[in-house]
Amino acid sequence: MQNDVRPESMKRIDTKALADAFIEEQIKEIKNQVKDKKVLLALSGGVDSSVVAALLIKAIGKQLVCVHVNHGLMRKGESEQVVEVFKNQLDANLVYIDATDRFLDKLAGVAEPEKKRKIIGGEFIRVFEEEARKLEGISFLAQGTIYPDILESDGVKAHHNVGGLPDDIHFEGLVEPVKLLYKDEVRVVGKALGLPSSMVDRQPFPGPGLGVRCLGAITRDRLHALREADAILREEFDKNGLAGKVWQYFIAVPDFKSVGVKDSKRYEGWPAIIRAVNTNDAMSATIEEIPYDLLHRITDRITAEVDGINRVLYDLTPKPIGTIEWE
Ligand code: XMP
Repeated sequence: MQNDVRPESMKRIDTKALADAFIEEQIKEIKNQVKDKKVLLALSGGVDSSVVAALLIKAIGKQLVCVHVNHGLMRKGESEQVVEVFKNQLDANLVYIDATDRFLDKLAGVAEPEKKRKIIGGEFIRVFEEEARKLEGISFLAQGTIYPDILESDGVKAHHNVGGLPDDIHFEGLVEPVKLLYKDEVRVVGKALGLPSSMVDRQPFPGPGLGVRCLGAITRDRLHALREADAILREEFDKNGLAGKVWQYFIAVPDFKSVGVKDSKRYEGWPAIIRAVNTNDAMSATIEEIPYDLLHRITDRITAEVDGINRVLYDLTPKPIGTIEWE
């Protein structure tokens, strides 16, 4: 697709048949553009890059090289799922890089939210560039750009795209097969391509990942506690039918402790803060009213199963006045 403007005549892709037709057309276009050359893709495991990967695998197979950078700030099981789906099931050419130590070392002692974001974004580009340089004969860069990214590329949400085009690496061109699609259409296409619902129907997840939810200066033990508590919240939302209903939900863990008691002994721990919001456009958000019995169950599980957490709090603040993320 050469054009960045969605033609008015373009039908909204909301059925499997329309998705299948879109996929066929894109496969032709991709083959035509790429021919026998190689394409590089930063595969985060988010909806957009995952759908682009699946589409390109279908079109050009092993000519696609996917690079998954695990920045150590993924949710529990996420990087493993990327490897399982793309390497094991779809037999993709996938380079998996565990850069956890690199990111966490750079972030050590940094408490300021925007500084943390800059470090994570900057380091991501550097790791990706280093890998790109090691690979021989790559001609194209694929990106999971979607239509709202084009409409919003006025700078307001620039921070939302971690990664981007490395400046000093020359590519013959970009491959952006879903750039005229809205998010819901990307999901329909992803399903038609056979990607699992846990990947295609994922709630939004910030590029800096758990980095902006492990509040203040990140430490490994608190990050671990956050990841485990978040996994319990997700599991309970899945089990209780809230996962498909609530727009975004997660745990944030601040960098202070309170006094508690466990086995009759003083037990100092961090609080886990539950956030569960609904919104249409992320510009404003309302609070999901989680049933009290479920809140109790989540509290009991987190405090019993996660080392270092001794309280669970429920954030009732809408946006505005609070933003969705705490940082
Ligand atoms: P806020 O916190 O601004 O978040 O109310 C609105 C939406 O944007 C997501 N978000 C981010 N996404 N990089 C991202 O890719 C970021 O730095 C970032 N900060 C916030 C947030 O999760 C919510 O969906």
